[in-house]
Amino acid sequence: MISLPHESPLGDHNFIFGIATSSFQIEGASTTDGRLASIWDQFCQKPGAIKDGSNGDIACDHYHLWRQDLALIAELGVDSYRFSIAWPRVMLKNGELNPVGVAFYQSILSELERLNIKAFVTLYHWDLPQYLEDEGGWLNRNTAYAFADYADKITQALKGPVYSWATLNEPFCSAYLGYQYGIHAPGLVGEAYGKKAAHHLLLAHGLGMQVLRKNCPNSLNGLVLNFAPCYPASPSPEDEAAARLADDHNNQWFIQPVIEGCYPDLLAQLPIEHRPDILPGDMELISAPLDFLGVNYYSRAVYKDHQETGYQQWLPSQVELTAMGWEVYPQGLTDLLVQLHQRYKLPDIYITENGAATDDHLVDGQVNDEQRVRYLQTHLEAVHEAALQGVPLKGYFAWSLMDNFEWAEGYLKRFGLVYVDYQTQQRIKKQSAIALQQMLAGRKALAQNQIGEI
Ligand code: FCB
Repeated sequence: MISLPHESPLGDHNFIFGIATSSFQIEGASTTDGRLASIWDQFCQKPGAIKDGSNGDIACDHYHLWRQDLALIAELGVDSYRFSIAWPRVMLKNGELNPVGVAFYQSILSELERLNIKAFVTLYHWDLPQYLEDEGGWLNRNTAYAFADYADKITQALKGPVYSWATLNEPFCSAYLGYQYGIHAPGLVGEAYGKKAAHHLLLAHGLGMQVLRKNCPNSLNGLVLNFAPCYPASPSPEDEAAARLADDHNNQWFIQPVIEGCYPDLLAQLPIEHRPDILPGDMELISAPLDFLGVNYYSRAVYKDHQETGYQQWLPSQVELTAMGWEVYPQGLTDLLVQLHQRYKLPDIYITENGAATDDHLVDGQVNDEQRVRYLQTHLEAVHEAALQGVPLKGYFAWSLMDNFEWAEGYLKRFGLVYVDYQTQQRIKKQSAIALQQMLAGRKALAQNQIGEI
C-alpha cells in the first residue's frame, strides 16, 4: 500500500503526480521512418559497453505500442506523463524536420490531451544525433547552437498543449559519465573533458530557454538536474572537506551557474586544461530565470578523504540497497531539498524522477515488488517533510512507467512500476503500480469530497 501522510500538501489537487520515461529507453524502432543514429546506438555496438550486450533497437517497442502505453498511464490515474523527444527522430542531417518523426510525438500529445494528462516534455534525454558527435559532440560549442535550432523547430512544429518543457535531463550524466568517465555514450575518457562538455550543455540549456520563452510562453519551462547529496563518512575535518569537494564537483557545478550565474569557486583551482571555455555572455544565458527546476533523486553519496583525488565514495555497511547497489536513503531527499532551499532562491520544484530498481519476478502473473512499494512510500514521506519545511514542491514523478533499457546496465535492471516481458512485449502491472493507482484514486475521491463540501 502507498498512502500520503494525513493532510499532506501532496494531497492537494494542484500537486501533480506523474510517471516518467525517456525516448531511447523505451521507443525502439531505431531505424524506422528515417530516424537517424544517436550516440547511444553507436555506443551499444562497442564491445563491453552495455552489461548484457543489448541495445535500444526494440526496447519496449513503444514506437508501435504507444497507444496502449498511454492507456495504461491513464489507468494509473496520474495527472501527468513525463517523456522525452528523440532528437535524431525529428531532425534530419540537413537541419530540416523529419515530418514522420514529428507526427509520432504529435500523436502522443494529442492523445494525452484527450486523456486529460499533462505533458511534461524533455527536449534532450541523452540521445544526441551521432552526426553531431562526429563533429565533437558536447565538446564542440556548436552543438549548443544545434540544440537551440532543434528546440526552435520542434517547439514550433508541435501543436497542442505541453504543460512543461525541460531543456535537458541531467547534464551531469551527459557530461561526466559520457565524456569524462566513459561509462555512458559517447564513451570518452579524460579528466579534461567533463567540465568542458558540461559548459556546452549548460549553454545549450540557456539558449534553449530563450527559444522556449519565445515559442512557448504559456508552458512551464525549466531544467532537470540530478543530485546525490554528499555526506562525510566520519565527522573528521578531512572527510567533511571530501564531501564538500564532491558536492561542488557533482551537484553545485550544475545548479550554481543556473541559479546564480557562476561556477563554484573550485573553478579557479582546476588545472587550466580542465576548465570550460567560457565566452562573454555565457553565464547570463545560463542563468536566465527558470519557471521550474526538476530534481531527480535516487540515493545519497558518502565520501572519505583521498590522498590524490581529494575524495572517494564509500558505501556504508549494513544499509538497505536496491538492485543497482544504491543505498535506500529517503532522509537524503528531505536534506537535499531543504539545503537547496536554504542556499538558493529556488523556482517551483518538481521531483522529476525518483524510484528504484528491484529484483522483480513474474510469478503466476503477478510481480510482488514490495521493496519498490516501500521505497516509494518512504520517499513520498520525505517529499512531504520537505514541503512542510517550506520547499516550493509542486509535483512528483516516479521513475519509471515500465521496465526499460537502463543505459549501461541494458535490460538487467528493472525500474518499472509496470513489468515488461521483453519476449512478448506484454505489460503487467506490478504491486507498486497497483498501490500507486489506489493511492491516486483515494486522493481524487478526497479532493472531490472537499470540493463537494465547499
Ligand atoms: C537517471 C536517468 C533515467 C534513468 C534513471 C534510473 O539518471 O535520468 O533515464 O535511467 O537514472
